[in-house]
Amino acid sequence: MSENAKDEAVAIPAPSDGARREEVRGDGDILLKVTGLQKHFPIKKGLLQRQAGAVHAVDGIDFEVRAGETLGVVGESGCGKSTMGRLITRLLEPTGGTIEFEGKDITHLGVSGMRPLRRDVQMIFQDPYSSLNPRHTIGTIIGAPFRLQGVEPEGGIKKEVQRLLSVVGLNPEHYNRYPHEFSGGQRQRIGIARALALNPKLVVADEPVSALDVSIQAQVVNLLDDLQEELGLTYVIIAHDLSVVRHVSDRIAVMYLGKIVELADRDQLYKAPMHPYTKALLSAVPIPDPSRKAAKSERILLKGDVPSPISPPSGCRFHTRCWKATEICTTTEPPLKELRPGQRVACHHPENFEDQAPQDTVLLSAAKEAAELVPEEELAESAKTSAAVAAEVEAAAATESAETPAEESGKKSGQEPGGKSTDT
Ligand SMILES: Nc1ncnc2c1ncn2[C@@H]1O[C@H](COP(=O)(O)OP(=O)(O)O)[C@@H](O)[C@H]1O
Ligand code: SF4
Ligand SMILES: [Mg+2]
Repeated sequence: MSENAKDEAVAIPAPSDGARREEVRGDGDILLKVTGLQKHFPIKKGLLQRQAGAVHAVDGIDFEVRAGETLGVVGESGCGKSTMGRLITRLLEPTGGTIEFEGKDITHLGVSGMRPLRRDVQMIFQDPYSSLNPRHTIGTIIGAPFRLQGVEPEGGIKKEVQRLLSVVGLNPEHYNRYPHEFSGGQRQRIGIARALALNPKLVVADEPVSALDVSIQAQVVNLLDDLQEELGLTYVIIAHDLSVVRHVSDRIAVMYLGKIVELADRDQLYKAPMHPYTKALLSAVPIPDPSRKAAKSERILLKGDVPSPISPPSGCRFHTRCWKATEICTTTEPPLKELRPGQRVACHHPENFEDQAPQDTVLLSAAKEAAELVPEEELAESAKTSAAVAAEVEAAAATESAETPAEESGKKSGQEPGGKSTDT
């Protein structure tokens, strides 16, 4: 079956910053406050299953989420983003630190204490293929939260599920169909409908679009954005690069090896990133508009993988991959400090700001090889290519929405716009 018409009709976000989010949202109260949060997974060895060490997945993070805002969380795979998401939704028990929701300490609440919170805090998972039970109809799946919480919506569960289906742009008539009958984008819409069923306050979305085709990604991100406006939701949206969160976040937290290394207002972070890791992540995002290439003069390719969280590097955890690392970076962990209003950074030698350890000037020998700078001409070439791709995607979306004014398009049956077959 095909993507629903609503899928095709949603506009692709502008590749440049766009004016969608000029007003800064989330000036509201603090909804969630996290202090010193830690999760260490024990590593057990031998017959006696003695603890031989621990995976420091989340290793002391502080942040808050304000009512009505979207906090984007980015970082390479293995940095602890999903663990953080599962901690704040209390799907995992923290090793240390505290989590407050609406001023109440929920760090170690038990099952009954958590019951009311389960309604207020919901999670959308990364993989729309495995997160939906294949043996249940979507009516059962989206209706499950009502049954679990013993809530009887006005007009009954079926009517409410059908309303939710139309809220997320799916056909309410498809109530009795099974997950395999839907495409990836539609399944993620089902996951979103399930998350919204109990009218939550906070939605944590863990890489909600990474498993989807690029053209579908934009539609699902737009849907989340529209729903936020309509329903007054607060989001924590996790992504592995900045391209997805760029359009929807008010603030962005950058994670590296279990730590937050930079936390800033979105525009400030893009305009003047301070942490070298943020700068590297930013420069890895293709620049779609060649006229904007002057904004960045180099692309930094980080070498090597994220080190193991079992024994993270001493001092600043990024020092093994940082081209600015000096001696102090290996010995002293830089604290996450507010260097500009609204911009917190953990670095001794930040970008776009005065050096925090000016006495320490000798680069580590490894630093010289830590990153590769791509010359400007190559960058201009790649900017041209990505601009062309972006234009193509937009043109295709415009044609598709013109061709599919209402309900479903029979022509595109079995295909997502990206060409992935969706029938099984
Ligand atoms: N249940 C678990 N047991 C042991 N280690 C885990 C568990 N879950 C995650 N980890 C480890 O914690 C680290 C962070 O993982 P994760 O939070 O999934 O990172 P991300 O979402 O940023 O990719 C990884 O090294 C991962 O292998
Ligand atoms: S300059 Fe030092 S403190 Fe800053 S990110 Fe690089 S290694 Fe870390
Ligand atoms: Mg993850």
